[in-house]
Amino acid sequence: MAVERTLSIIKPDATRRNLTGAVNKCFEEAGLRIVAQKRILLTRARAEAFYAVHAERPFYSDLCDFMTSGPVVVQVLEGENAIAKNREVMGATNPDDAAEGTIRKLFAENVEANSVHGSDSPENAAIEIKFFFEDDEIVG
Ligand code: CMP
Repeated sequence: MAVERTLSIIKPDATRRNLTGAVNKCFEEAGLRIVAQKRILLTRARAEAFYAVHAERPFYSDLCDFMTSGPVVVQVLEGENAIAKNREVMGATNPDDAAEGTIRKLFAENVEANSVHGSDSPENAAIEIKFFFEDDEIVG
């Protein structure tokens, strides 16, 4: 297994409920290392650009509204098999389908306000990390 990096976002529903530390605890207990992290407010244009792949989906506009409704914490997580491991720790997109003990099962409010985002492939991880971080902001 290779050491990978993946992009994580703690979403506004979680920052609003002061769950940043609780979510980070889940990552660290799973062996993922937070090698970059910043709390930001996404502009509408930036949220639209980040989720451009979903532009044709019916939930796109609501999703961009939600992602700009409060602070998000963008992060780079590093570890063995980090992309798949993070997706395992997050659980299914819809908390109704998420396994017990996963972040979304524990904390998500619904399929939109689902507390966390994680890259779904090595290609997207590289693109998404670059979207938010300069190389010298990531310290492994
Ligand atoms: P995320 O992993 O950030 O990727 C796309 C996001 O769109 C997803 O998490 C959810 O927040 C949101 N999403 C996906 N499916 C739906 C849906 N059916 N209805 C509303 N929001 C959705």
